[in-house]
Amino acid sequence: MCGIVGFVGQEQAAPILLDGLRRLEYRGYDSAGIAVCGDGAIQVSKTRGRLQALSDLTHGGADLTGSLGIGHTRWATHGEPNDINAHPHLSRSGRIAVVHNGIIENYMELKLQLMEKGYTFRSETDTEVVAQLLDYYYAGCGDFFEALTCTINIVDGAYALGIICADYPDRIFATRKDAPLLLGYGKDGNYLASDVTALIRYTRDIVYMDDGELAILSDKGIRIYDRMLRPMDKEHHHIDWEIDAAEKGGFAHFMLKEIMEQPRAIREATAARIQDGRVVLSDLTMTPEQIRGIRKLYIVACGSSYHVGMVGKYNLEKLLRRNVEVCLASEFRYSDPVVGEGDLVIIISQSGETLDTMAALREAKKRGARILSIVNVVGSSIARESDDVLYTWAGPEIAVATTKAYSTQMAVLNLLGLYFGDVMGTTDYETYSNAVKGILALPEQMEKILAAHDQIRELAQMCVDHDDVFFIGRNLDYALSLEGSLKLKEISYIHSEAYPSGELKHGTISLIEEGTPVIALGTYAPLFDKAMSNVVEVQARGGQVLALTTESHAAAMSERVDAVIAIPDTEPMLLPQLGVVPLQMLAYYIALARGCDIDKPRNLAKSVTVE
Ligand code: F6R
Repeated sequence: MCGIVGFVGQEQAAPILLDGLRRLEYRGYDSAGIAVCGDGAIQVSKTRGRLQALSDLTHGGADLTGSLGIGHTRWATHGEPNDINAHPHLSRSGRIAVVHNGIIENYMELKLQLMEKGYTFRSETDTEVVAQLLDYYYAGCGDFFEALTCTINIVDGAYALGIICADYPDRIFATRKDAPLLLGYGKDGNYLASDVTALIRYTRDIVYMDDGELAILSDKGIRIYDRMLRPMDKEHHHIDWEIDAAEKGGFAHFMLKEIMEQPRAIREATAARIQDGRVVLSDLTMTPEQIRGIRKLYIVACGSSYHVGMVGKYNLEKLLRRNVEVCLASEFRYSDPVVGEGDLVIIISQSGETLDTMAALREAKKRGARILSIVNVVGSSIARESDDVLYTWAGPEIAVATTKAYSTQMAVLNLLGLYFGDVMGTTDYETYSNAVKGILALPEQMEKILAAHDQIRELAQMCVDHDDVFFIGRNLDYALSLEGSLKLKEISYIHSEAYPSGELKHGTISLIEEGTPVIALGTYAPLFDKAMSNVVEVQARGGQVLALTTESHAAAMSERVDAVIAIPDTEPMLLPQLGVVPLQMLAYYIALARGCDIDKPRNLAKSVTVE
């Protein structure tokens, strides 16, 4: 939520800030702004709307001169998206500018206190409180660093802050708590950003800031201070992502590009972790004793990552013969969870920054559980706070709707299940070796599904003009239907629900009427006949059925339904890995036909760093 950039160096800052913001726009896109310090004053330009509007307003940044600045792309929390609420926010003196990602929870109380002292506020944001507090403390002590420490001591909540002050025209101040922020060391200057994608064009030498740390960036270098304000050195990370990975590369949308990248992404997530037919997780530090001693398994995540957990529950329970509890992070954190020593909590997150997931991780850790995370963004907060991390190696995912991150999370979770099943002695040899062979065959099978995209584009017409679409399935098909339904609703704005087929007749079937599109998932062979009976039930109420099944069941399915999409046969536990691909494409083509903004759906943002 919200993207921050900062630059100080030899070049004009504004074009660099705009370029960085363009790469961060997926984090929030309802308004954007930049502040540049030059000739002893701060110039601010900000506007409602997409980044292009800001670029047009500033003539590509040419209107603001100076080689130091900060920028922001916003996902509104406090106050509607308009020019005034857009960041940066200025102090009343106009000499301090602030960009912020997160939420200042006690902002109202602080605002009232400042108003009593004569401060007036222009915006409805929580962020303006930070700018005015800095002004207040700075006026009192005359030392900006001290003013900053006083300010962060008094604000509660989550924040990543980039700050400039006209009295320090060569410095950017930065700090964070529960919101991502990283520092980039370049040849022609130094950088600040919420995410590495903003920086890979300029530098690959990165330091991740941790909670409570402060940084002062100048043209000459970056000084970092710990919570006690002691200067510190931090580990540098080299980012080896290709620049193209964060570009569309000829595709109409990032989402389509990322759907198409899945065979490669799955290969990268799995191939190096399978050696001579065995799963090798060299990045896992758990000993066989620790694995065998696991008391209970939890999977905790949000959104699509939670849906991976739902698939994981079916697969891991089969492989490990242990109960696996799947929890939504936003519920888990406040549920007084019965979790503790001996339990393993598997955290799943693409961004590694989702606030609820992070809070759930900390809650579980506090209670003594061991944390193993499955994360895409290297060096992200969740990765850094976990006992073990298995990276998904999917590369940057830019489209707000996740695709390749979902697939690779599932691939890694399956590998983990097989590995644990082997160590625990609960997975038989045949299941294990068939699954390993199946995993190695997935990329080619996915390519085959992707090659049939024209058929899916045609079938998308079945749903384009409808207001409601239902997804039904049993077992793994139900877990997969949750993701199919979420993909559809988030990018096409069609209302959609996913139901376990057997549950329909307990209420929801009353919504099926003549012509209602029902996407019936029937890939899971052991329950194929049951899936067919549920198809018949919805057809009897007028439902128009588009079925997803395997090639070996396609003929039987075609006899009954309006249209069939067939995926290659594979091991049952791997069916969702293949099944998700046509569902992603279906959502994509439906949204395309409805003229939706596919990569940046309304009201959403890629990285959810607020509660
Ligand atoms: C949906 C989607 C979201 C994320 C969720 C968790 O397409 O992308 O539902 O899955 O916000 O995000 P991460 O995985 O970054 O923790």
